[in-house]
Amino acid sequence: MNDPRISELLRSGRAGDRVTVRGWVRTKRDAKNVCFFEINDGSCLANLQAVIGKDEATNRIRIDGISTGASVEATGRLAESPGRNQRIELRVDELTVPGDAPPDRYPLQKKRHSFEYLREIAHLRPRTNTIGAVMRVRNSMSYAVHRYFQERGFLHVHTPIISTTDAEGAGEMFQVTTLPIEGLDPANGVDYADDFFGKRASLTVSGQLEAEVYALAFRNVYTFGPTFRAENSNTSRHLAEFWMIEPEMAFCDIHCDMDVAEEFLKYLLDRLLADCAEDMEFFDRWIEKGIVENLRRVAEADFARISYTEAIDRLRAATVSFDYPVEWGADLQSEHEKYLTEHVYGGPVIVTDYPKRIKAFYMKQNDDGETVRAMDMLVPRLGEIIGGSEREDDHDKLLRRIEELGLNAEEYWWYLELRAFGSAPHSGFGLGFERLIQYVTGMQNIRDVIPFPRAVHTAEF
Ligand code: 4AD
Ligand code: MG
Repeated sequence: MNDPRISELLRSGRAGDRVTVRGWVRTKRDAKNVCFFEINDGSCLANLQAVIGKDEATNRIRIDGISTGASVEATGRLAESPGRNQRIELRVDELTVPGDAPPDRYPLQKKRHSFEYLREIAHLRPRTNTIGAVMRVRNSMSYAVHRYFQERGFLHVHTPIISTTDAEGAGEMFQVTTLPIEGLDPANGVDYADDFFGKRASLTVSGQLEAEVYALAFRNVYTFGPTFRAENSNTSRHLAEFWMIEPEMAFCDIHCDMDVAEEFLKYLLDRLLADCAEDMEFFDRWIEKGIVENLRRVAEADFARISYTEAIDRLRAATVSFDYPVEWGADLQSEHEKYLTEHVYGGPVIVTDYPKRIKAFYMKQNDDGETVRAMDMLVPRLGEIIGGSEREDDHDKLLRRIEELGLNAEEYWWYLELRAFGSAPHSGFGLGFERLIQYVTGMQNIRDVIPFPRAVHTAEF
């Protein structure tokens, strides 16, 4: 447990130090008198070069087990490396190979594999440079999320994963049941009294409604958990299981909501650039050229803020043609979102005051009777990364909206009651964690930024 990690050795290991390194072989190269191999232990992108003299090898150390993918425990002294690519290397004099990886069968050879292929071997892909870098960035961003909120006195709430309320009212829930599905005849109706919870239950689509409960006691709270959507969207930005960060703030209107969202994203970018420099250089070189400079600029810019109506005007004035029509009342498609961010504003844009018809029931209604105090943050290359709003805090207006939309008001009784006792203006938003990781790494497909992707017809492992 306490042996030094490769990231540490590459940074501060000194020639002459005797160390044991444990990890996996990335490559092996035989020269006349020596065998070189590169060890990676996941702590950083770079490998540690290990060297074994062949006389040593033939005499005492079995080197035939060393091949790409094998696990090794290598002991020796660090030495200054004569090679150009590294400062130090490990001169090995003791070696064990706990698990070999026969080259004729190990699926990850030195060549570059396609991301599609790597998805089929999600149990081995964390050993590649790209997925390794993605997962380190993911880890850093997760930590930064908690830091941001904890430094500001937000309470972390663990909202439930099994829920009996549809938080978005969109009916895109995976049902949770212990009823024997094979024997059910839906035509006869299902009696949920016999089900595990005594009522219909599902996997949550959002922790927002429960976060609201806590915001109306603790003022500022956040939840960061898995959410599930049974939407049939087979795209590069949709998952059926994804992680979402949802802050909820009492006595905060939509302007305050936007300020927090913008400050939060910039904070995450600052941390990313400071804490993940090596991995970000990798993405800049191999995945999305110029991304580091681009994110640096975003971290310093003021985000544009426009209304939905202005967005529609901008899109109508566009000289390019879109696949989906642009008309007031229709939802923005990802091509529209990309056009606004990439061509009109050249950076993130926050769009507010959407038509109520295309937004969730809980959003605060504007006086015009047509729009709601929604705010979506759109970013270049990706489109929507954050969705949020001020919440309807008027009991009767909320109840009317729930009924108008044909939702079952009884299901929302406790949510409505928050508006009957100590209601207060409040707002929040949801940041899709995988969308964030896609945005900051430049990865094209959302399935490559989560360890085990679940999407339509995809749930291996
Ligand atoms: O816009 P959404 O649906 O908003 C909510 O769920 C609110 N309850 C949030 C809130 O106000 N507390 O989702 C929020 C974000 C989106 O902007 C997007 O980044 C991400 O969640 N998201 C998805 N990410 C991956 N796959 C999906 N299927 C996603 N659906 C939404
Ligand atoms: Mg949304």
